[in-house]
Amino acid sequence: MNIFVNEENKQFHLTNGKISYIFNVLKNGSLGHLYFGKSIKNRDDFSHFLRTDIPTAASCHFFQDDPAYSLETVNHEYPVYGKGDFRDAAIELETKDGRIGNGYVFKDYKISHGKPKFNGLPATYANEKEASTITVQLVDESTHTNLYLSYTIFQHYPVITRSVALENVGTDDVYIKKIMSSSIDFPDSDYKMIHLAGTWSRERHIEAHDLRPGVQSIASIRGASSHHHNPFIALKRKTATEHENEVYGFNFVYSSNFLAQVEVDHYEVARVMVGIHPHQFRWKLAANECFQAPEVVMVYSEKGLNGMSQSFHDLYRNHLISEPWKTVERPILINNWEATYFDFDEEKLVRIAESARELGIELFVLDDGWFGKRNDDTSSLGDWYADEEKLPKGLPSLAKKVNDLGMQFGLWFEPEMINPNSQLYQSHSEWVVGRREEHLTFGRNQLVLDFSREEVVQYLFEKMRDIIIKTQLSYIKWDMNRNITDAFSVALKIDQQGEFFHRYILGVYALYEKLTTEFPNVLFESCAGGGGRFDPGMFYYAPQAWASDNTDAVERLKIQYGTSLVYPIYSIGSHVSASPNHQTLRATSLEMRANTAYFGTFGYELNPLELNEEERSIIKDQIRLYTTHRSLIRDGDFYRLLSPFEQNETAWMIVSKDKKEALVGYYKVLTTPNSKKQQILSLKGLDDDVLYTIEETKQSFCGDELMYRGLPLSIEFNGVNSNKAERGGDYQSVVYFLKGK
Ligand code: GLA
Repeated sequence: MNIFVNEENKQFHLTNGKISYIFNVLKNGSLGHLYFGKSIKNRDDFSHFLRTDIPTAASCHFFQDDPAYSLETVNHEYPVYGKGDFRDAAIELETKDGRIGNGYVFKDYKISHGKPKFNGLPATYANEKEASTITVQLVDESTHTNLYLSYTIFQHYPVITRSVALENVGTDDVYIKKIMSSSIDFPDSDYKMIHLAGTWSRERHIEAHDLRPGVQSIASIRGASSHHHNPFIALKRKTATEHENEVYGFNFVYSSNFLAQVEVDHYEVARVMVGIHPHQFRWKLAANECFQAPEVVMVYSEKGLNGMSQSFHDLYRNHLISEPWKTVERPILINNWEATYFDFDEEKLVRIAESARELGIELFVLDDGWFGKRNDDTSSLGDWYADEEKLPKGLPSLAKKVNDLGMQFGLWFEPEMINPNSQLYQSHSEWVVGRREEHLTFGRNQLVLDFSREEVVQYLFEKMRDIIIKTQLSYIKWDMNRNITDAFSVALKIDQQGEFFHRYILGVYALYEKLTTEFPNVLFESCAGGGGRFDPGMFYYAPQAWASDNTDAVERLKIQYGTSLVYPIYSIGSHVSASPNHQTLRATSLEMRANTAYFGTFGYELNPLELNEEERSIIKDQIRLYTTHRSLIRDGDFYRLLSPFEQNETAWMIVSKDKKEALVGYYKVLTTPNSKKQQILSLKGLDDDVLYTIEETKQSFCGDELMYRGLPLSIEFNGVNSNKAERGGDYQSVVYFLKGK
């Protein structure tokens, strides 16, 4: 890993043998982008990477009348508007005297080992041996602001992280209207843009389309990263596949409003920008203040989408989630939500816990409905004390009973929310987001608490802290069930209302920070009406997230497959629920449901008291299987084999880093009797020379056979006309464990 600097021609080359990232100081003093891609050897001069064949066009504007130099045709690192580049700029300021800036000019740079910590914002981290960081200082004398562009290169990964800070060195206030965290100009646009789109119950479905001239973007202005667009885009070469050729991935370490856009210009340059959405954003930067924008993770892959995913997974497992959760195995949990909804009391819960414990489940999670007087979703959010009717002996009594069974105890909270029908609202209605005298918009009968206010965050911290201590809590499911409307804080001055969304999420991060610092061993699972805030910002604090309220095994194939594009398998909360499924009413076997849920952080979301003996015995086996392979699922390399977005079948596998073990999941949604083709599944990531035995069938195959010829699937998947078939009908699946010798 190295950062080469050529002082003479001011070129900077970050490389680690896997990737190179090169930029330079341009003639006008701003930074030019020269290269991002597969590693190339360092040399004295890369200025030939700069585009010089300026097309003759009446519309070109030349810097200092030099016909060989136009800001419209060079590739930029951090473009500004107003000097001859007419594409979208990365930054936009508003100053007292109406100046928009003269452009940022290189001043200095600093290289440090490791990665400086961000204050109050989640970000990847690394020690001195694991990464190096260069921060380039640029100045704009017209607006009296300094811009700091930071780039970190990680030693072991084809990854660069970027972030931006802006400092006001003048005497007047400056307003930031836009500050993107990264911008890169790719020299051509021969890519497909990949992203993850959806909505509640249908999160993170893969979308792909060719880049076309003009701006194409995904965004959220909901106050959460959202169910609708994950803060991720990739540019995939049109020739790239799941496993081959070039892909660039961008993921924003942020949980609120974002914009990820690609602008293809008239010379087919593709400008990729990621940052806080400028919509409604206006940050007042007083003299001597500095604004830190969140981080963007940029991955280069020469091994297709799957290669990109593996880099994200490795980076997040090792450099994003907090220390204890890198190695601790997450407990298999039971969550009472779909078992009881709001209808429970202590006795019922204890019976569920007892029954779950007998099955081998390790953590009992009490979901919504335990606080205030909450029998439906119309009341009590904000009243974080036990519902006396349901839990007359209080939470500590229940927690103790659960602990006495040898189980951990976990609780659901929705700290950011308030119901008008609550005691908290009676005492602190001024804490809600919005102007109360106006007609506020409701979502799930609730309003949002103003987390931009420190006293609100502190209040929630004290309430949650108290419960954590009194119940010796092991786990918290932190939910967030509506987006933000009426964005306005009574605590902010009028000229600072544009800061609301960012200050709100800083408040959320602050509460996470306080809780995880004081209770590093409490496991947090983030949730936002299912997967509405499934982003790396959250993973910094909560190493797993509830992927979707849709627990249907068939629907989950797409949701989990899409999610795996960016996020490690062990971060994807996935549970076995009842059949017929509560969201789709589809009936699937217990086997199908578990075979899907194994590829995540595993749990159950059903009433174990309603299971018959046969089902209980199957579940015991499932728990044994997951427990046995938990560390493989946590640490292994994930390979997507067959996409549910392209066919009736889905397949994926996890291979241990030493290639000695693998877990393969194969799923066939609809049966296809007497199929034309032989049912063979080509595996990936194995060792050519290792002999693998399939635990379930006792067959042995060499790694090369399994990868190049394929694993023969059993006749069961060839339809109902086989009298040998043990499985028949739709929604069939199998999970194989491969052990190498
Ligand atoms: C959200 C969550 C669910 C459940 C309910 C409880 O929808 O995603 O898992 O916790 O809230 O109200």
